[in-house]
Amino acid sequence: MKFGYFDDANKEYVIQTPKTPYPWINYLGNEQFFGLISNTAGGYSFYRDARLRRLTRYRYNNVPLDNGGRYFYVHDEGDYWTPGWMPVKRDLDFYECRHGLGYTSITGERNGLKVNQLAFVPLGFNAEVYRVKVGNVSDSPKRVSLFSYLEFCLWNAHDDMTNFQRNLSIGEVEIEDSVIYHKTEYRERRNHYAYYSVNRRIDGFDTDRDTFLGAFNGLDTPQVASEGKSGNSVASGWSPIASHGIHLELAPGEEQSLIFMLGYVENPQEEKWESLNVINKKPAKAMIEAFATDAQVNSALADLAAYWDGLLGKYSIQSSDDKLSRMVNIWNPYQCMVTFNMSRSASYFESGIGRGMGFRDSNQDLLGFVHQIPDRARERIIDIASTQFDDGGAYHQYQPLTKQGNNEVGSGFNDDPLWLITGTAAYIKETGDYGILDEDVPFDSGRQGSATLFEHLKRSFDHVTNNLGPHGLPLIGRADWNDCLNLNCFSEEPGESFQTTTNLDGKTAESVFIAGLFVFAGPDYAELARRRGLEDEATRAEREIENMRNITMAHGFDGDWFLRAYDYHGEKIGSRENEEGQIFIEPQGFCVMAGIGVEEGLAEKALNSVRDRLETDYGIMLQQPAYSKYYLNLGEISTYPPGYKENAGIFCHNNPWVTIAETVIGRGDRAFETYAKIAPAYLEDISEVHRMEPYVYSQMIAGRDAVREGEAKNSWLTGTAAWNYVAITQAILGIQPDYDGLRIDPCIPQAWDGYKITRSFRGAEYKISIQNPDHVSKGVKSVTVDGSPIESNVLPVFEAGSSHEVVVVLG
Ligand code: BGC
Ligand code: NOJ
Repeated sequence: MKFGYFDDANKEYVIQTPKTPYPWINYLGNEQFFGLISNTAGGYSFYRDARLRRLTRYRYNNVPLDNGGRYFYVHDEGDYWTPGWMPVKRDLDFYECRHGLGYTSITGERNGLKVNQLAFVPLGFNAEVYRVKVGNVSDSPKRVSLFSYLEFCLWNAHDDMTNFQRNLSIGEVEIEDSVIYHKTEYRERRNHYAYYSVNRRIDGFDTDRDTFLGAFNGLDTPQVASEGKSGNSVASGWSPIASHGIHLELAPGEEQSLIFMLGYVENPQEEKWESLNVINKKPAKAMIEAFATDAQVNSALADLAAYWDGLLGKYSIQSSDDKLSRMVNIWNPYQCMVTFNMSRSASYFESGIGRGMGFRDSNQDLLGFVHQIPDRARERIIDIASTQFDDGGAYHQYQPLTKQGNNEVGSGFNDDPLWLITGTAAYIKETGDYGILDEDVPFDSGRQGSATLFEHLKRSFDHVTNNLGPHGLPLIGRADWNDCLNLNCFSEEPGESFQTTTNLDGKTAESVFIAGLFVFAGPDYAELARRRGLEDEATRAEREIENMRNITMAHGFDGDWFLRAYDYHGEKIGSRENEEGQIFIEPQGFCVMAGIGVEEGLAEKALNSVRDRLETDYGIMLQQPAYSKYYLNLGEISTYPPGYKENAGIFCHNNPWVTIAETVIGRGDRAFETYAKIAPAYLEDISEVHRMEPYVYSQMIAGRDAVREGEAKNSWLTGTAAWNYVAITQAILGIQPDYDGLRIDPCIPQAWDGYKITRSFRGAEYKISIQNPDHVSKGVKSVTVDGSPIESNVLPVFEAGSSHEVVVVLG
């Protein structure tokens, strides 16, 4: 069953009912100011850091769900309603939500009144702009009132929902003209405030939540909306809100437009005040001026659209498969941008207070994003590397506002350092900017000195070889990619964090996954060393890699598939010898991606085992059989009920590793089959089962053992976005940025006749036609550039600004 449809021409997903199986959301903002907005106008906004600069309140786990957001109540002769249906839930004669790239437009109609609320963050601007159009589509004149509503958060989202003894006494606002300023704590150490404005004279306002709602009422029945009259309340403590009250008179057919703005301002210390306790409003006023007219809004919307066209235009496909095209051209790169911006911090499943930017997560996110805005990828690489320790280890996370490693989570996840090599290599392949390797980058934000970025990569590489276990495989530390495989934890204390508790000295438990990642990432380190003229270092690295490859085949293969790990006691994990958890997906994907055992036939065996033992109609499960009970030696993985999350869920992040691995052994049909199984556009028709947004990937789909098999959770913020983008654009469609050019090496279903790709690479445009007359999966027979044949399948780097026609014939 579907709840909407893709409008590809407008790059929108159109939702036709507010009653989606779960709030289906979108993200606003690209740089500093961000918002999450659902199809019923729920959500919240923040500046840079969802924990430390939360601008509006949101109650996770609320009942009903998603109750709180940017609301516009309409009062129409005693009747009141909200165009996004929530929170009043009055029946609408028409409802539609269009989630587009960086904006969301919601329309509701009732009793001859049509209201559209459009939300976006203009480029380079620290505010959300809402344009509200109120139209009289009836035959008689209408006199209605509109009441805006949002609730301020007292900045630190965690403190805001825990420290009530203080917080309920500190709320402060100022009201001037049509603008409500939220200035809690500005009197002391803060130099920032938020404001909510509208571009016309108001007839009333409210800033005190209890006055707006009235005693015993919820957001569904606010007294102000039901009576059609603002309370003109001035908040003092309790819960500050912002609501404008505006009367509108509309002739039949008339439409009026209002522009609201939720903005954020930081003042220099010496310019904080206008006079005693009166905040300096100048910057806010300038921002409000910038969006006083519809023309200004329209031009900012056009800029936003052009910005996205520019980003998405870097890689686009023309194919006969609409679902494929909309994933490749629109939604997958869009999600990559969002995961790049948010890491795993703020979604409808991530509360924005728990996690900052993940070291491994952000490096992987880069892979899906680097071609869109390489400059921001560069900055991100430096930020991430700056939190690395001088022994090559890494903080698992850092806070985006402070850019400092997060002490609460600490370090010791032994895969983390390697991802920095992969992220940096991807950046250099895309841009040719080797200069980044010479940047002087701190260790632990300067506490442990600094060194070149290249030296950071060396320490990442050496961190693995300096931490080997009894079989010569990498020690796992607290965990590797699978945060929940905690082999040194042995936790018996309820509530203890599996991620931060290490009860035993980690000198024995080894990870075959990290071995695969080392053999995958290592060659890029060696190559970069060689390109810096460090031949001996390159050879040394290659020896280490070769060694690890051999050790993995000798001690990391279990007959038909790769082992997962050795536990603290030296026992095998992910082996036929185990009763449960006999086979895991991660080492199969990564070892084959690294090329381990391809020639020896181990790779094919491993992937056949994945197909036979892990694959379902909804995707590939993380392991089988699921753990039916808690295992002290395994940790969090065995805490989840079977079929969910890391315990045999379809953990989408690692499915594309298998897709890519299939292309390594040339099985294009299998590669595409595994790709399409979890690609959201292909799941649109089963939205009632899948339940999450059909335009973005979710972290997890419940596996075969789960009660609710096929149901997804944790949509949006997942490494799944970047890896599937790599899997489809590079591994399957075969356009691979490389150090010296654009490598063309597709691996596709045999039935495909061909497709066309337009790719920008280092400033030049490549128009590539891939033709498959012999119906093969893999193998490039000929390449012509601008009509002339070339010998290799690596397209050279062309002059920036030039455009080239490339014809590739497979066979
Ligand atoms: C989740 C993991 C996540 C980890 C880190 C665990 O509870 O299952 O997916 O990576 O927490 O926060
Ligand atoms: C989500 C985390 O963000 C990611 O770092 C981890 O690799 C996966 N969960 C698997 O545990």
